Parts: sequence; C-alpha cells; structure tokens
Amino acid sequence: MKVYPFQTPNDTAEAVTERLLTALDLHPGKAFHLALSGGSTPALLFNLWSGAYREEIPWQRIHLYWVDERCVPAESPESNYGEAKRGFIDLVPIPSEQVFPINGEEEPATEARRYSDLLLERLPHHNGYPRFDMVILGVGPDGHTSSIFPGQSKLLQSPNTYAPSVHPASGQNRIALTARPIYEAAAVLFHATGAAKADIFDAMLNDDPESERLFPAVYIARRTPKAELYLDQAAVSHMKMLSL
Ligand code: 6PG
Repeated sequence: MKVYPFQTPNDTAEAVTERLLTALDLHPGKAFHLALSGGSTPALLFNLWSGAYREEIPWQRIHLYWVDERCVPAESPESNYGEAKRGFIDLVPIPSEQVFPINGEEEPATEARRYSDLLLERLPHHNGYPRFDMVILGVGPDGHTSSIFPGQSKLLQSPNTYAPSVHPASGQNRIALTARPIYEAAAVLFHATGAAKADIFDAMLNDDPESERLFPAVYIARRTPKAELYLDQAAVSHMKMLSL
C-alpha cells in the first residue's frame, strides 16, 4: 500500500487525475474500464475532468462504471450517476454507449445481478471476477468504502460482484461493488480528504487487527497490496509515520 499525501483537496484530485492519465498511457488505444465512487469528494475530479483536463483525457477510450449507487432516481442529488452526469459526463465527449449507470430505480437485488452480469460480459476476467483497469474508492468517516458499511461482513466475503446494501443510519437502499472484484482490479486508488477520515487512514497503516474488523475500508486496503492512497494533509494528519 502506498500513501501519496498532498497539501489541498484540489492538489489531491489533480494527482488522482494524473495517475489516471499514467494508467491510460500503459496501454495506448485500448478501452479503459474505470469505476467511480460517489459522495462529495469526486466533485473536484469532475471539475478538473470537465475543465483543465478535458482535452487531455482520451474520452473515446473510457468505459465508465460505478462502484456503488444509491437506490434513487438519476435526477436526485443523491444519485452518484446523476451527480457525475451533471458534473462532467454531459460536458465531455465520452461516447454515451460507454457510460454504464447502475439503475437506482430498479429492485436492488435484481439490479445488482444485472450489473454484475454486464461487467462479466464487458470486462476481462481475473480470478473469476471482472477486472477493472482502475477503481477509485472513497472512504466514509465511519470507515465504509463502496457501500460496504461497518458490520456488513457478508459484503466483504460475497462471491457476487455487486450486491444490495443498506445505509445503516438512513436505511437507504444501495447497490455495492463487493470486496473481491476490488482486489482483482489493475489499479485501486483510495481518494479521500478531510480530518474526519484521519483516524481511518491512521488505522489503515497500523497493524491492529481490530481496525480491519471495524472498518471495511481498512479490511479491503489490507488485502489490496497495490492500493494507492491519495489523501490531503487533513486526512493524513493523524498518521505518525508521515512528515509532509
Ligand atoms: C457513496 C460512496 C461512498 C463515498 C464515501 C465518501 O455512494 O456514498 O461511494 O463510498 O465514497 O461515503 O464520501 P464523501 O466523498 O462524501 O466523503
């Protein structure tokens, strides 16, 4: 696991974007299967992708998927796909036939199966799972990632690529990429900013087995040696081993 700390949230988003470009350069001309998370952190990515980097990103090669989705209509501000559509998809020349939203209005278990099958059909396989070229994960202050929340260990062990989930506080239905396909991705980036997550990243880099039992993000990161952490100064503020 490698940690890349940056001064500001925008510097962090810029570094994630540069990392995406580096990954794209590895296989020029090839389709690039990218999975995005939701929440507020990606908004800075969207600004860069529809702005300063709009001409640099080879949109014709990008095939876009979601790590997770809230079970709401795309018009909702809660929708990860909807926010991405409004934030950059409608503003860049990505072919619409290369954008694959999770349908937040379908029955969760049915849609999780449909989306899992879609990925198995469209992506190369690795150890029986669809292999993304890159997965960009967020982390919640409670240590969740994707929509795998503390205590939902069945999503960490699931043999399915996507599965239904429920937000423990709001009860909102979700559809989540499970842990095993994350392990198989060619590149796994944790992209997080803010002091609210500092304890999670501190736990991620210490050896305490309790923290992986408590925090799905820690559990997954510990099993993903290739994981790269793109964090701002606030998110690394509790990490003893880093001096910025
Ligand atoms: C979601 C996400 C989730 C998110 C974290 C961080 O649908 O909410 O995919 O895993 O990445 O909750 O969210 P913030 O970026 O808002 O802190």
